[in-house]
Amino acid sequence: MKFVHVAEAPLAAKGDLLAFIVFGDPAKDALFTALNKALGGALAEAASAESFTGANLTTLVVPTLGRLNVKRIVVLGAGTGKREATPLQLRDLAALAHQCGEKLKAHTLAFVLPAGAPTTTAQLVVEGVLGGAYRFNKYLTTEEGKKNSPVTAVHLLAHGKSDKVAAGVARSLATGITRGTAIGHAVNAARNWINEPAAFMTPTEMANNARAVAKKHKSVTASVLNRAACEKLKMGMFLAVAKGAAEEPTFIHMVYTPAKKAKKRVALIGKGLMFDSGGYSLKPSDSMFDMKVDMSGSAAVIAAMDAIATLGCEHEVHVIAACCENMVSGGAYKLGDILIGMDGTSVEINNTDAEGRLTLGDAITYTREKVKPDEMFDFATLTGACLVALGPYTAGVLSDHGKLASSWLSAAAATGEDMWRLPLNSRLKEQLRSPIADMRNTGERWGGTITAGLFLKHFAKDTPWVHVDIAGPASITTRGAQRNPVEAPGLPWRPSSSIFAKRAQRAAGAVAVHGVDR
Ligand code: BES
Ligand code: MN
Ligand code: ZN
Repeated sequence: MKFVHVAEAPLAAKGDLLAFIVFGDPAKDALFTALNKALGGALAEAASAESFTGANLTTLVVPTLGRLNVKRIVVLGAGTGKREATPLQLRDLAALAHQCGEKLKAHTLAFVLPAGAPTTTAQLVVEGVLGGAYRFNKYLTTEEGKKNSPVTAVHLLAHGKSDKVAAGVARSLATGITRGTAIGHAVNAARNWINEPAAFMTPTEMANNARAVAKKHKSVTASVLNRAACEKLKMGMFLAVAKGAAEEPTFIHMVYTPAKKAKKRVALIGKGLMFDSGGYSLKPSDSMFDMKVDMSGSAAVIAAMDAIATLGCEHEVHVIAACCENMVSGGAYKLGDILIGMDGTSVEINNTDAEGRLTLGDAITYTREKVKPDEMFDFATLTGACLVALGPYTAGVLSDHGKLASSWLSAAAATGEDMWRLPLNSRLKEQLRSPIADMRNTGERWGGTITAGLFLKHFAKDTPWVHVDIAGPASITTRGAQRNPVEAPGLPWRPSSSIFAKRAQRAAGAVAVHGVDR
């Protein structure tokens, strides 16, 4: 799919489908009015016939019947209130426009950018279209299933009615397209890795993904520690989780070195449970079904590295992922075991299903001791409790570093990533007390996301650190498709297993790549 800025006025746009956004009542929109006039009132007539009010994420499709160069028009509703779309909303609207294009078998989609900074709006629209066009269809064998998007070209038209765009604006749009493309492709790569069944996407295969990213970029290296190397480093928690699996664990460490002297050293750590059965604290079948996604954090950070190297970054960036499977077998770790982490902490296991914090604990210690970053961030499908607290769309953010947490949250808001801070309330630490070890790995049910965060905090010590729990958003379908009532009328966010199988084809780990790409 090609994205280009085309210096055309919307009224002169060419192609199969012209998309533009209205904020509420279409009659009040200048472009709607101008196009309506050119079509002899057909737009207003269609709006009234279909009771189109410009409500958020609704569409109105009207054929132009030869009166304009473009074959059809789709009006995208952005709701009333604000005159500007939020980043998240803009991405969803772009995904929606693509979806209409797909339905209409359009090859060329012309998208009129709304008001706002041209770089950002272009970037978000490109991300939205790429995200909306994503399919995980490699295992489908029917013609219908194999079908990819018919849209091959997306023309971005600058905001305003004239085709005369200042050189500066054109350059900003080009930058936006470059960024959107790099990020969109990285997000889709992460989705592919997440959607891939655990039988193929093993710790070894994940290490190969990291090596492939490093091979693409001169600025990136990837090294992989095997079990013996991790034993040498005394990663007792990570290795205990890996013990029950036939698959060998891999500990991935990637480094991006900027061309100029680095401003800061930043570490991105991802949870890499290629499959989480729960271990001897076995998950019920319905909860286990989705657990190939338990490596979403590692997919997010490895894919982010690709985008970072493509776009360049002023910081030295380290990506760390401890990859393994949590399985049941004669060699698996047991309830009541006492593990010694890389930093020497002893941990009594009262639930083998709280494995992510064990692997991350050692990954955090490794990062703190070997990388010595100025800042570190971890991304993990860590707790079901985070879904209970925030719902399926929102990632939980936990940190005791006020400044880093708020800069993280403002980056998330600017890039349209749905995140919300939860308190890292140290009073809950008493839940992790053990009479025979320094800590237990789980507390009570109440505050489950927070106690998991407190467990990680123990290993982060004084290094500035932010923890992002992505248990919810890792399993959401492609943005736009999920929320769009056109395509998914009343579909529950996480349907029962039977219909999930069908939806999984389109499933995407809507991972936090956007938040870490710059
Ligand atoms: N990988 C799961 C968390 C999860 C749940 C991710 C649902 C995505 C969707 C994690 O390893 C886990 O099992 N957590 C336990 C923690 C509990 C034992 C304290 C949980 O959430 O039940
Ligand atoms: Mn688990
Ligand atoms: Zn897990």
